[in-house]
Amino acid sequence: MSMLGVVVTAVWAMLPAYVPNNVAVLVGGGKPIDGGQTLGGRRVLGDGKTRRGTVVGTAAGLALALLLSDITPAMSSLVGHQLPTFPPVAGLGLAFGAMLGDIAASFLKRRTGRERGAAFPGLDQLDFVVGALACVWVLAPGWTEMTFTTPVLVVVLVLTPLLHVLTNVAAYAGGLKDEPW
Ligand code: CTP
Ligand code: MG
Repeated sequence: MSMLGVVVTAVWAMLPAYVPNNVAVLVGGGKPIDGGQTLGGRRVLGDGKTRRGTVVGTAAGLALALLLSDITPAMSSLVGHQLPTFPPVAGLGLAFGAMLGDIAASFLKRRTGRERGAAFPGLDQLDFVVGALACVWVLAPGWTEMTFTTPVLVVVLVLTPLLHVLTNVAAYAGGLKDEPW
């Protein structure tokens, strides 16, 4: 596979994982997942992880995966490279896994004494990638191994933190997010 093919595949295959947390920022609010419960004197997850954000974010990622599958032939010929389609279970794994990774990160942030919104460099940028890849691998192992070859995986791990920083700074500048991370 050409270098361009690797990069295009990496971004394409991760799109359903990039969208959920950004949608959650837009629709978040309402009941927190942890119901306000604490663990060791600190919130289990905090008010930043809500049911509505998680459900709507996951649904948006899945919907995007199904939409991308419909336009795969057109996009493939446009970029001159055969892109993968998304079986629904793979779309669900990428979308829900991205949200789960972010939720797990909040759990770790609270356990390490970080308040809601505090930065945790490294974790903030990779939590959702690791969550998405782990979850899609469990739900659709064959598809995951076929799609995320080693070169594609390397590009995902290098490119995603960069894209994450860019989108969060943009969301902060646009007044959508309280912090630029
Ligand atoms: N959000 C949500 N549900 C999620 C994830 C995010 O509702 N599962 C919404 C919340 O309104 C949250 C915002 O998106 O405040 C920004 O998300 P994030 O930066 O992940 O949360 P923080 O508020 O910074 O909280 P934390 O410190 O736990 O990451
Ligand atoms: Mg945050």
